Amino acid sequence: MKAIILAGGSGTRLYPVTLAINKHFLPIYNKPMIYYPLSLVMLLGIRDILFIVKPEDLADFQKLLKNGSHLGINIQYQIQKKPNGLAEGLVLAEDFIGDDNICYMLGDNIFFGHDLVKIMDEARQEIEKNGGAYVFGYYVKDPERFGIVELDDQGNVISLEEKPKKPKSNFAVVGMYFYDNEALEIAKNVKPSDRGELEITSVNEEYLRRGKLKVKLLGRGFAWFDAGTHDSFLEAGEFVATIEKRTGLMIGCIEEIAFRNGWITREQLLELTKPLRKTEYGRYLCEIVKSEE
Ligand code: DAU
Repeated sequence: MKAIILAGGSGTRLYPVTLAINKHFLPIYNKPMIYYPLSLVMLLGIRDILFIVKPEDLADFQKLLKNGSHLGINIQYQIQKKPNGLAEGLVLAEDFIGDDNICYMLGDNIFFGHDLVKIMDEARQEIEKNGGAYVFGYYVKDPERFGIVELDDQGNVISLEEKPKKPKSNFAVVGMYFYDNEALEIAKNVKPSDRGELEITSVNEEYLRRGKLKVKLLGRGFAWFDAGTHDSFLEAGEFVATIEKRTGLMIGCIEEIAFRNGWITREQLLELTKPLRKTEYGRYLCEIVKSEE
């Protein structure tokens, strides 16, 4: 399985903050937003990762994440000329994906919860064994902001809808999708929605039509933020700060994950701490280096 992380888009809901900077570089507490989805992909053990980026942001992404070799991963970049919608990322990723299955992550989604990686791994295994699509639903109080899934009493999917004015349920489809390779073909045939975007919900609807869509609901024990508005951005940062201060453990620390996965050596990790030493982030990594001596 390969991963695609969507990091383009217009960011207009965060204006004026994002007039001059891409939102994925903004800090969710102590690290750039994009570290969070990247860290989840890494925790899942996926090492081939494609970032979908805007032309004007490519150099900054390369500055931040390079080609990933310092983290023991392979990062590539694909330009999306215009924010035509989430499904276009699949079309643009065709060469990168080849015959593989796909973990599709939105760059502004932040997740936290017990056994999260186990649940993601179950989705991955389901796709690798049986194909289809596997997505997650999360109860929200403002469903009109999201893609929504309607379920019957047995948990079967009845319908999907993107940002409905009158939502049929409170379950938002979160920005983490697992697809078999057919998603590439399906995405190519998606037509623009009324708001003019190639919707990821249309891809999911096609899987539903084919009887190949699985939805798992994330319970109350999970935190999910779509950090695309001023409030949700702030809430995500406060949440991460609270958990990290209480536990002393970091969420979304990509260098730590690379090291614990055995993808970089202690010496490589030590090297990565050098420019970070004035920060708590750097000190945290130094402690990990020391504890492994
Ligand atoms: O956050 C979950 C929601 O994300 C889902 O419930 C919706 O079904 C889905 O459509 C999406 O809705 P948003 O309106 O929140 O998507 P947004 O425009 O914020 O873009 C999500 C991410 O994808 C963000 O990191 C920017 C990136 N993006 C977006 C577009 C439209 C791209 O890379 N390219 C694009 O063309």
